[in-house]
Amino acid sequence: MDIEFVRSRFIKHFDGQTGNIYASPGRINLIGEHTDYNGGYVFPGAIDKGMMAEIRPNGTDKVRAYSIDMKDYVEFRLKEEDAPRTSWARYIFGVCREMIKRGVDVKGFNTAFAGDVPLGAGMSSSAALESTYAYALNDLFGDNKVDKFELAKVGQATEHNYCGVNCGIMDQFASVFGKAGSLIRLDCRSLEYQYFPFKPEGYRLVLLDSVVKHELASSAYNKRRQSCEAVVAAMQKKHPHVEFLRDASMEMLQEVKGEVSAEDYMRAEYVIEEIQRVLDVCDALERGDYETVGQKMYETHHGMSKLYEVSCEELDFLNDIARECGVTGSRVMGGGFGGCTINLVKNELYDAFITRAKEAYRAKYGKLPKVYDVVISDGARKIC
Ligand code: GLA
Repeated sequence: MDIEFVRSRFIKHFDGQTGNIYASPGRINLIGEHTDYNGGYVFPGAIDKGMMAEIRPNGTDKVRAYSIDMKDYVEFRLKEEDAPRTSWARYIFGVCREMIKRGVDVKGFNTAFAGDVPLGAGMSSSAALESTYAYALNDLFGDNKVDKFELAKVGQATEHNYCGVNCGIMDQFASVFGKAGSLIRLDCRSLEYQYFPFKPEGYRLVLLDSVVKHELASSAYNKRRQSCEAVVAAMQKKHPHVEFLRDASMEMLQEVKGEVSAEDYMRAEYVIEEIQRVLDVCDALERGDYETVGQKMYETHHGMSKLYEVSCEELDFLNDIARECGVTGSRVMGGGFGGCTINLVKNELYDAFITRAKEAYRAKYGKLPKVYDVVISDGARKIC
């Protein structure tokens, strides 16, 4: 992302003055999908695409915000009742409110922001925006007293309280804690985490964007979470220690089969298996066993498509093409309902796979998938 680009727009919109510039990335996730809000493991990494914002306190009680990409301007004050209607501005407003709730004395500021993480592609553009502002407000108004865990929670709480998505912590955590060249295995219950250097010799990680836009907020995501909670509630009658599906086994799931809906049962089955797959993939990576990593990715795709039902026709098609081409691993990434597949591809297969995927996708759907090579990068930071 281009600092000069953001700065030139900020100067143009705010009377020639400059401020501080902050940036935060989007993320990929190698494996562990819909496990975060179930207290399980995830395995994300920050990427070289994200959001960048210039910010300058303006001595008033008003935030004046300009979206460079959308050429849209919104002003709001900082009290709870001042929430703007415009959806992108609600993210910034939400972060301001959540920082205020954590004792940061947020005052009015001018800001302009832009991003190069594709919107609605399952790469967490919204988490990138939240982390950028959480990091910036902590630096400008909070003496950096709010710790990084809490900054991630500020983004998550923004989604819950101001954007209507009951998401887990994965995206915001990856955006804040990202480290160049490393994936992060995160235990979403304890928030213990470990960096895994990720440079698969002989392989490339590539995203194929179906360019089907997902609408996470469109209740389907929240409904999945409710299914998981319903199964936990049923298990708790006999196993009071079960707080999340993380604590559950397939045997426990069998026990409640008659008490939960067939749909909720399938959802839980996927989650219990998926949590185990993250651990299996970490073990396989430590052995350099990419075949197993890839096989688990295909298993995840199958589970997300058939049991959790968050894939779509286009993503299933891209997954089938990957399999036909002999790609080592492939699966839908992120919340689902559209967005990208993540593919672990042998170097020598890369060109043939991309060519074939593009041709086949265009023949079937009349449009090209977008291709993004993954570069694992650093998390939230101040640029200048
Ligand atoms: C979205 C949510 C995350 C996570 C993923 C699925 O990206 O924001 O918290 O649940 O979906 O793994």
